[in-house]
Amino acid sequence: MDASEHRRRLIRILQNAYSGEQAAAYAYRGHWKSLGKHPEFREIQRIEAEEWYHREEVGRMLTEMGARPVRWSEIRTWVIGRTLGVACHLIGWFLPMYFAGRLERGNAAEYDYAASHALALNLPDYARELTVMADVEREHEIYFRSVIVGHPMLPRMKKLFGWG
Ligand SMILES: [Fe+2]
Ligand SMILES: [Fe+2]
Repeated sequence: MDASEHRRRLIRILQNAYSGEQAAAYAYRGHWKSLGKHPEFREIQRIEAEEWYHREEVGRMLTEMGARPVRWSEIRTWVIGRTLGVACHLIGWFLPMYFAGRLERGNAAEYDYAASHALALNLPDYARELTVMADVEREHEIYFRSVIVGHPMLPRMKKLFGWG
């Protein structure tokens, strides 16, 4: 793969991540608000803050690379995030935890890909930072898995959606 292809792919991943973090952050905001006095609310509030931080860092990288967020993705993920945030109030405790964990696994993989493209482009600072982001997404995944482990719906969901 030549440098321009690495660059093209890195920018594509960063654009998707930038908007994806917005959806995640708004969804988590709705999620922790829906939890009321549940003990998990603080943890999910913290995760929301980490997603906003990721978005900020990814946005900075895009700017430095002379690229910008995709307007349509921004609108789409705003709507998705807000909708999921509201849905968390309606669908109970388990499903938001389950799908959050499943989503986090995908996010970690995307930041790992991004880091490998950054390395190929001789951007070690980006690679390091993206690897840290992948690790944080893995911590999020581990957290969500830890709260749903042993739930009676988990085996069936695992069969259907392949995570858990
Ligand atoms: Fe994130
Ligand atoms: Fe995350």
